[in-house]
This record gives sequence, structure tokens and C-alpha cells, in this order.
Amino acid sequence: MDTIRTERLLLRRARHGDLEDIHAVLSDPRAMRYWSTPPHATVDQTRDWLGDMIAAPADVSDDFLVEFEGGVVGKIGCWQLPEIGFIFHPGIWRRGIAGEALRAVLPWIFGRHALPAITADVDPRNAASLALLARAGFRETGRAERTWLVAGEWCNSIYLALRRPD
Ligand SMILES: CC(C)(COP(=O)(O)OP(=O)(O)OC[C@H]1O[C@@H](n2cnc3c(N)ncnc32)[C@H](O)[C@@H]1OP(=O)(O)O)[C@@H](O)C(=O)NCCC(=O)NCCS
Repeated sequence: MDTIRTERLLLRRARHGDLEDIHAVLSDPRAMRYWSTPPHATVDQTRDWLGDMIAAPADVSDDFLVEFEGGVVGKIGCWQLPEIGFIFHPGIWRRGIAGEALRAVLPWIFGRHALPAITADVDPRNAASLALLARAGFRETGRAERTWLVAGEWCNSIYLALRRPD
């Protein structure tokens, strides 16, 4: 079974029935502030996003939705290996949920894919994501300017990597 259990969380593959819960995350401007697209304006947009996640080939993508207290509260994993991505509903932020999920998904990904490192691409203003990744052992590998144009605003990138443990 492609599931990971932690003390409080269940990480599992996406299903079409998750549409409402994940739309609540992807349509929230606070959660989407530093995402690569603007907040989802319609449920149809999230339906397409979810369909792509469900259909993604296993050699390219290893991604999970995260259940907490019976509902889906976010996603974590590699939409495109080896880059990690995560997003959680603001209603459960700052309770260690993302950290708990990240600590569980990193060994899963290293265990199933022959990757020298897992990488990340974070907006320098995204303090929460940078803190989360630093705590998990990610280190900066570079920076670039004007990497993403989102809703008319150019964003910059900090690149980070976590090397495969010896
Ligand atoms: C980044 C995110 C996943 C963190 O989720 P979370 O469940 O609140 O994270 P945690 O409670 O596990 O905290 C992880 C670390 O980040 C820190 N942190 C959380 N929010 C923070 C904030 N707003 N500012 C600074 N640090 C913050 C915590 O203190 C903790 O660090 P510590 O272990 O050294 O104390 C969440 O803020 C989010 O979904 N953001 C929007 C999506 C996003 O930007 N994704 C990344 C795109 S690259």
C-alpha cells in the first residue's frame, strides 16, 4: 500500500473524492502566496490539478495528500522528482504538521528512487518553507532572480538540496 502513517497523519495517494478538501487549500491566497500559480479561482481548476496528480507516472512523480483528523489538509511529495513540494491549509499551520509529514516522506522518497539528492525551489520571502526545510537538513545550493512570473509579479528562487544519507 502506498501509504505512510505518522503519529498524527496519514499520507496517501490522491483520489477524485479529495476535490473539496484540496480545493480549500489551493484556493486560499495565504497558502498560495509563494506558489508557482495564483490561487485556484474555480473548482474545475482544482479538478484538473487533482486529475494530473492521480494520473502522474510513478517514475516521474511520488506525491501524497495528507490526512489529519479525518480530512485532507495538504499535499507533500515530489510532483516531479527530485523536487519536493508541499502546501497545507492555513488552519493547521504552526502545529508541526508539515515537519511531521516531511520527516516521513523524505526517507520514503530516498528509499524508492535512486536520487543523489532531493531538491527544493523556494521564494526568498517564504520564511516558513525555508525554516521547515532547514530543520529537515536542506542546505542552500544557489539563488536566481526572476525565475517565476506569477500573476504579473516576478519572483526569485533559493535553491536547496538534501543529499542522500550515507
Ligand atoms: C511552509 C508550510 C508547509 C509550513 O507548515 P507548518 O505545518 O506550519 O510547519 P511546521 O509547524 O511543521 O513548522 C516548520 C518550521 O517552520 C517554522 N515556521 C512555520 N511557519 C513560519 C512562519 N510563518 N515564519 C517563520 N517560521 C515559520 C516553524 O517554527 C518550524 O521551525 P522549527 O522546527 O525550527 O521551529 C506552510 O506554511 C505552508 O503550507 N505554506 C504555504 C505553501 C508554500 O509556500 N509551500 C512551499 C512552496 S516552495
